Amino acid sequence: MKTLVVYYSQSGNAQWMAERIASALSADSLRLVPKKAYPEKGFGKFFFGGGSAVMKEAPELEP
Ligand SMILES: Cc1cc2nc3c(=O)[nH]c(=O)nc-3n(C[C@H](O)[C@H](O)[C@H](O)COP(=O)(O)O)c2cc1C
Repeated sequence: MKTLVVYYSQSGNAQWMAERIASALSADSLRLVPKKAYPEKGFGKFFFGGGSAVMKEAPELEP
């Protein structure tokens, strides 16, 4: 059975973990990348990221 580690990471922390999990499992990994980027710092990061989560948005993803 092939294993795929699928993850989302805005600022790299989850990516760091996912790559190590994939390596330990000899698995492939796939990063989910939203088409519309969220702000990476400051108030907007929490306002737009938090708003998106609260509104249960399912952002369109890059292919
Ligand atoms: C909008 C927003 C909401 C967050 N909510 C939580 C939360 O509910 N609990 C938590 O432990 N961390 C929360 N965080 C912190 C992130 O989980 C943390 O910074 C994480 O390491 C980011 O991972 P990344 O670098 O892969 O994007 C939140 C961060 C943002 C921007």
